[in-house]
Amino acid sequence: MRPSTRLIHPPQQTVPQARTVNPPIQRGSTVLFDNHSDFLLAGRGEFGGITYGTDRLPQQRILEDALRNLEKAALTRVFPSGISAIGETLMAFVRSGDHVLVCDNAYGPTTRFCHDVLGKFGVRCDALPPDAGANVTDFLRPETRLIFLESPGSITFEIQDIPAITAVARRRGIVTVLDNTWATPLFLDPFALGVDVSIQSVTKYICGHSDLLMGSASATADHAETLAKFYACREIYASPEDCQLALRGLRTLTVRMREHEASALTVARALAEHPLVDTVLHPALPSHPQHALWKRDFSGSSGLFAFTLKTEHPDSAMSRFIDSLELFGIGYSWGGFASLVTTGRPERRFAGPLHGRTLVRLNIGLEDPQDLVDDLRQGLSRLAD
Ligand SMILES: Cc1ncc(COP(=O)(O)O)c(C=O)c1O
Repeated sequence: MRPSTRLIHPPQQTVPQARTVNPPIQRGSTVLFDNHSDFLLAGRGEFGGITYGTDRLPQQRILEDALRNLEKAALTRVFPSGISAIGETLMAFVRSGDHVLVCDNAYGPTTRFCHDVLGKFGVRCDALPPDAGANVTDFLRPETRLIFLESPGSITFEIQDIPAITAVARRRGIVTVLDNTWATPLFLDPFALGVDVSIQSVTKYICGHSDLLMGSASATADHAETLAKFYACREIYASPEDCQLALRGLRTLTVRMREHEASALTVARALAEHPLVDTVLHPALPSHPQHALWKRDFSGSSGLFAFTLKTEHPDSAMSRFIDSLELFGIGYSWGGFASLVTTGRPERRFAGPLHGRTLVRLNIGLEDPQDLVDDLRQGLSRLAD
């Protein structure tokens, strides 16, 4: 054989297999078949193995199975981001002419997807109050096909009465989907509360290190086939390296969540005592309007919450406060080891007491909570400068 052929087809080598603790990473577009009859089987959809790079390579399957096991789901699929997991799940379960209800406190891009993408394909979307429960019946239409929940919801942290909503939905054959990113499957078991599809932005706590984007959707046995078929058709899969990083994050989820929970509660309680702070929006505090629901349904809380100030301050004063924080990065997303801060005013269909108020949202990382409290105290003192 000539050199260029020898480069591509070197003599067969036997390399000893190493049993590393983590599975070896396999990348690839082409996956080689052992023989032509396997290839023919694949063509007929009868081959049991992996046929191509879009057919969920081993890292992805290992991650999906680990998540499925954690969720106690029948099937899990991962996606290249949380928002793609949400969009793909919605598209898997609805069709033109259907009606969808989305809780008013859903992550902004979720609501936008419903209106701007589903709307374009003839699916009507309406908002459900952020603290909805059995009153969901007031919002149903004969063509309601899916109810999308996020509890606690983005920025304002209201809790929905999930079992009351899923009981109504089950009776009417309506699919329920829950974005369970805040609690993770460790602190809320969506399927025990009657949810049909559970979503995680893996980007947040499961990854835990702010170095990847990924999402997952996990379904009950009754909804697994719909999700799997749609997924196979769309071929929106995750990269092997990202799956490996997510698997790494998953190993330490329990210990990190315990720390996030304890630290966030320390900071939340300190803020609740602060003379400039009005309301701390943290479901595990007894002052939270749906604290009783949180206590009933959740077994823990995570590191993300918000607070309001007693007076509305001009942007210049807020910037003095936020810019003076030394331990809080200013940036989107959450669930990582580093503390973060954002501010915003919720724009809602159901204007509640927080309408028009500035919310300061904190992602409490893994720093010492006392240092975070000290930093917030010195930052708040800058409001009056
Ligand atoms: C509650 C919630 N769900 C979903 C997402 C989307 O996740 P991703 O950033 O992985 O697209 C976010 C992102 O901030 C979120 O806060």
